[in-house]
Amino acid sequence: MKATAQTAADVLVAKAQDRSALIGIVGLGYVGLPLAMEFARAGFRVLGFDVSQAVVDSLTQGRSHVQDATTDLARLREPDVVSICVPTPLSKTKDPDVSYVLAATNAVKRALRRGQLIVLESTTYPGTTRELMLPALEETGLKVGEDFFLAFSPERVDPGNPKWNTHNTPKVVGGLTAACRRVAMAIYEPAIERLVAVSSPEAAELVKILENTFRSVNIGLVNEMAIVCDKLGVDVWEVIEAAATKPFGFMKFTPGPGVGGHCIPLDPHYLAWKMRTLNYRTRFIELAGEINAEMPEYWVARVVDRLNEQGRAARGSKVLVMGVAYKKDIDDVRESPALDVIRLLQRRGAAVSYHDPHVRKLKDEAIDLASIPLTSETLAAADCVVIVTDHSDVDYGLIERCARLVVDTRNALASVRRARYA
Ligand SMILES: NC(=O)c1ccc[n+]([C@@H]2O[C@H](COP(=O)([O-])OP(=O)(O)OC[C@H]3O[C@@H](n4cnc5c(N)ncnc54)[C@H](O)[C@@H]3O)[C@@H](O)[C@H]2O)c1
Repeated sequence: MKATAQTAADVLVAKAQDRSALIGIVGLGYVGLPLAMEFARAGFRVLGFDVSQAVVDSLTQGRSHVQDATTDLARLREPDVVSICVPTPLSKTKDPDVSYVLAATNAVKRALRRGQLIVLESTTYPGTTRELMLPALEETGLKVGEDFFLAFSPERVDPGNPKWNTHNTPKVVGGLTAACRRVAMAIYEPAIERLVAVSSPEAAELVKILENTFRSVNIGLVNEMAIVCDKLGVDVWEVIEAAATKPFGFMKFTPGPGVGGHCIPLDPHYLAWKMRTLNYRTRFIELAGEINAEMPEYWVARVVDRLNEQGRAARGSKVLVMGVAYKKDIDDVRESPALDVIRLLQRRGAAVSYHDPHVRKLKDEAIDLASIPLTSETLAAADCVVIVTDHSDVDYGLIERCARLVVDTRNALASVRRARYA
């Protein structure tokens, strides 16, 4: 029996080394596509799977490195490796919604055959791979570590980051068994510059949540510091810049309008939920989440105060929001604090417009706007300009010169001022 187990792992390791392994990627979004691209670049054949016909159509029309993409999940029997990159959102009550992971696991289970490696890449709570996926996959009668292999390896992609991408960002891998880890390491090794093995899937699952919780808590801390400085009449940016000159023991984080995207506002809640099931309340996570979520309200109150100083009410004022993506130089508006800022301003009766060079249209249940041009006229027409996202390709000098009133949540005008007084 042992000899057979060795053989299944050995066969897959050999297929990784000679690149004959067929790689299946389930979920071809922000995470799945770049990963597919790295496997293709390393010389593997890649078969993409998605439930969305539109996603598959756009890929098969030749706009990507995925040679073949399909909505036919029965074909999951073909790949030697199945990497699952499906969404892990929150429910309305901020509980994990693992329905996509479950659906993908069930599809894999229906097609599972001897010799396959299954890797979950989606961010999730510790225990998902072992408690949710393993029992389902073993219902087939196949045994993990012998017949098939199972691992968790979190994606760390940072959209818009010019330096760190899927290929050169070290990748953490945790297998269910030593054989699972060995096979997973062998498969990723040709595609990713550096791999970091950990002893279990739970450790790998927690690594990802620690990273995002670390960011959420530190952003929460500087956001609170911004409120503290405002009340004390001290410039928070000056304090942060000076603190950042300390060569050890300090890491610079910057305040802003809140957090956005599909990671930082969501992922820590996966851990908070898991810990609630163990009767433990994760206080840092909840506090940071609260502070970050309150920042749009804080900044809108600043806008109202500043307008008031000019003898104007928010109601009827024209407010131009600069930048609506959740962070600079990207076009993603998911969970963007700009959406809250716009909603809160509209609720106070302001007439809101926006400019974002990366986002031409903005639409949700309450908002239906299109980006307006950034000109001296559009700036001068606004009673207040609120800088929410500090995109690089924006003429901040023009804003400084033409806007009547600016509320700058990102300190974006500092570079203009520095240049002027240098
Ligand atoms: N976007 C990021 O920057 C980022 C970074 C690190 C980790 N993550 C994590 O990676 C995971 C995926 O995120 P994303 O941003 O790529 O999501 P996404 O929404 O961009 O893409 C997910 C894709 O999966 C498809 N899909 C859904 N259910 C499916 C199923 N059952 N079978 C096949 N395809 C299915 C969807 O149609 C979609 O195309 C999430 O857990 C997320 O938290 C995201």
